[in-house]
Amino acid sequence: MAFLHFHAINFRPLILAISILLALINILEALEVGGKESGGNHEIFKEILRDEAVLRLQQLGKVSDREGYLERTFLSPASLRAADLIISWMHDAGLKTWIDKMGNIHGRTESITPSPMALLIGSHMDTVVDAGMYDGTLGIICAISAVKALKMSGKLEKLQRPIEVIAFSDEEGIRFQSTFLGSAAIAGILPTSILQVSDKSGFTLQDVLKENSVEATDEILSQVRYNSESVWGYIEVHIEQGPVLETLNYPLGVVKGIAGQTRLKVTVSGTQGHAGTVPMLLRQDPMVASADLIVTLESLCRNPDKYLKTDDLHNSFDFAGLVCTVGELFCWPSASNVIPGQVNFTVDIRAMDDKAKEAIVSEFSKQISEKCDGRLVNCAVEQKHSAEATHCDKELRSQLKNAADSSIRQLSSDVLGEMPVLMSGAGHDAMAMAKLTKIGMLFVRCRGGISHSPDEFVMEDDVWAAGLALVRFLEQHVDDQ
Ligand code: GLV
Ligand code: MN
Ligand code: MN
Repeated sequence: MAFLHFHAINFRPLILAISILLALINILEALEVGGKESGGNHEIFKEILRDEAVLRLQQLGKVSDREGYLERTFLSPASLRAADLIISWMHDAGLKTWIDKMGNIHGRTESITPSPMALLIGSHMDTVVDAGMYDGTLGIICAISAVKALKMSGKLEKLQRPIEVIAFSDEEGIRFQSTFLGSAAIAGILPTSILQVSDKSGFTLQDVLKENSVEATDEILSQVRYNSESVWGYIEVHIEQGPVLETLNYPLGVVKGIAGQTRLKVTVSGTQGHAGTVPMLLRQDPMVASADLIVTLESLCRNPDKYLKTDDLHNSFDFAGLVCTVGELFCWPSASNVIPGQVNFTVDIRAMDDKAKEAIVSEFSKQISEKCDGRLVNCAVEQKHSAEATHCDKELRSQLKNAADSSIRQLSSDVLGEMPVLMSGAGHDAMAMAKLTKIGMLFVRCRGGISHSPDEFVMEDDVWAAGLALVRFLEQHVDDQ
């Protein structure tokens, strides 16, 4: 009886409800997978853009000219070893490679229909002294990984324009005290006089190039230079090197512009003498004069209005982002019982407003001449580098913002606010490239805002977010029809 009763129940509505539920679950799962990355690409992308990229950063972080700390300068033995690694990774990503006569490494892939205007993506392979492993290198590795991810997803053969990844040979300017040797040569703004500049061992740039089998005649610069008709634009991913993204709890940010910078070398010459016999009032001590000048520079950059108040124009200056640094000082003969004969120190002045920066440079030069006269020492100021503030292209900024937004939403379920738009106080190859083409930059959060230090650190998932943002950006240049 019970059996018969069982058969009498109408199961149809139940079965229908279960089928609808299962279908809904399937749709939700499909949406979830599609939202992350279709066809299992999510895991492949994670392997390439995060795991492999982080391993490569660590590998390159060990390629140093020094025991115990990272230093890799223009065409040094370590930079040649680093070049071999970068070239092998470029090949692995499907790029055709070459090294130009300024030591820049290029990796290129062509578009479906021939097009002369390439999208360049780059950053620098040189480092400061006692460097971290992300400054410069992060941008090179993210670019190579993004191209490799496109190759894996079959999109590299469908490019609307050629893509060229460039690892620039010198951005920090450590060896020759002149920044952007690599990118400025490509942008065509490097003067031939640079070939005669010497490093600390007395080797000129020309000597160093010759040692690397490059006959550095004046023509080499025109051989390295790109024509603006051959370039569509330039983008760069870089560690933020400041604390803003971390404070805002945001992994990526788009860059609006880069501060201008001026670098000076100040030489103060006095009278060398015996530390025990020359009375204080009769000394011409370049060390004390230098100390006075350094403290004056700090005061000027902390309170520019105090110094420039008599200038009729000062109201039009914007001192936002003004920072001044003395980072290097040499003293001759450098002995505890000798009043020095000569002191040299470097000055680095940066600001978003070029006129404000120039006003500071000129006020500091005035202070140098007054203070040196007062202390009876001779002072000379040499300008070693000057770059104007640079603005990122609006269209590239918005494309990078969309790409970064999509990458962050894909990798994190946290609800984040509007993507930060940042100004850069640090200099970048993009400044030189802006003389050739439009530029765009993406910043990646770093721990504690620390950079130019071995404590530099970027989280693995942020490396992934940056690589994925580049993939999304490059996909906007793929012909998907
Ligand atoms: C480069 O890192 C600079 O801004 O000095
Ligand atoms: Mn740097
Ligand atoms: Mn850098």
